[in-house]
Amino acid sequence: MTNQLKKAKAARRPSVCAAITGVHGYVPPDVLTNAELAQMVDTSDQWIIERTGIKERHILRGKGLGTSHMGAEAVRGLLKKTGTAPGDVDLLICATTTPDFVFPSTANLICDMVGIREVGSFDVQAACSGFIYALSIAAQFIETGTYRKVVVVGADKMSAIIDYTDRATCVLFGDGAGAVLIEPSRQYGIMDVIIASDGAGMKHLHQKAGGSRMPPTAETVAKRLHYVHQEGAAVYKYAVARMSEVATALMERNKLTSKMVDWLVPHQANKRIIEATAERMGLPLERVMVTINKFGNTTAATIPLCLWEYEGKLKRGDRLLLAAFGGGFTWGGIYLTWAYDPRWVQTDESAGDKRAKGATRRLAAKLAGILPFALSASFGASFLRRE
Ligand code: ACO
Repeated sequence: MTNQLKKAKAARRPSVCAAITGVHGYVPPDVLTNAELAQMVDTSDQWIIERTGIKERHILRGKGLGTSHMGAEAVRGLLKKTGTAPGDVDLLICATTTPDFVFPSTANLICDMVGIREVGSFDVQAACSGFIYALSIAAQFIETGTYRKVVVVGADKMSAIIDYTDRATCVLFGDGAGAVLIEPSRQYGIMDVIIASDGAGMKHLHQKAGGSRMPPTAETVAKRLHYVHQEGAAVYKYAVARMSEVATALMERNKLTSKMVDWLVPHQANKRIIEATAERMGLPLERVMVTINKFGNTTAATIPLCLWEYEGKLKRGDRLLLAAFGGGFTWGGIYLTWAYDPRWVQTDESAGDKRAKGATRRLAAKLAGILPFALSASFGASFLRRE
């Protein structure tokens, strides 16, 4: 067990919880299949599926489009879906390893693109653990009562830093973004957080050039030093150990048995890492969110994209364990309870009350379009039911 886990013996119990009250995602339309990669490097569909679980990934193409484009798409969808006006957002945090620029931050750009004006916004860089780190920061602002609506984005355009002549890395990564809205709740939300890091892991997973230690030159470009360098087997060993360690520590600290965990939401780096983590937690695969088959590893976006994909299956009160591991090394986990039911967006009174009514009406209106009129009237009544 790491020092960080030993130090944090007891689970925290915030009096106001930071709850996820909406989630949305975006993946670009272009798909890169294993078969296409097999034309580019010495690999095969069979190897990629067997060793990683990935069948295809989405790639952002288009001149001048960076990570902010995908983040903004995810946030626009989130605001629309939750009935949140841009002016109501108090803070936006973006987790990314592939910012559009060194500065300004991608969070600044996303705010400008979606019309969120003059509130705090900043990036968090913790590679594949970035979304967990960003969520843990957002939770502090909500729990202290400083802010009431925080947007957390996880977005990465990994195709910008992948060497498509290196078969060991180019088959793994994809592009995408996910965003969540965080609001205060008396009952549901983030119950416990662990974040940890070990900079000695840098040698196994990093980008050699482009930062202040080795600024870009013609030589660094010629030597292909601006791409992800990963020693896969070494990283694999740490990833399995740390992901399962953080997940089981959260279970122990919160007195959760495997039966009590409804969903594991693991970072999507390799299907085998996901399966090993679930096995060590004693969790059957039916209760593990998996999107790696179609999105690959989208770094900071994997966890919000999982929540987006599985949103329809989540019920209010479900216990979720989020766990991630990535470059740094960084790792972390979050235990949270889900704040709303799948078919109508509603949370406990303090969480997004106004918005819930708006979303309820919109969903009822949508259903009215697809159901016979008489049926829609009776459905409408049940959507408005509140606890
Ligand atoms: N196609 C065919 N063969 C390949 C490919 C490929 N795409 N890639 C590697 N190989 C070969 C290797 O060359 C090697 O051949 P050799 O035995 O002749 O030398 C063989 O396959 C085995 O290579 P390994 O690297 O040992 O393969 P492994 O089974 O470990 O799988 C992988 C590689 C998928 C990268 C795995 O190690 C992994 O998932 N590592 C962890 C990734 C991770 O968690 N990263 C952290 C998050 S990423 C971030 O933070 C940015």
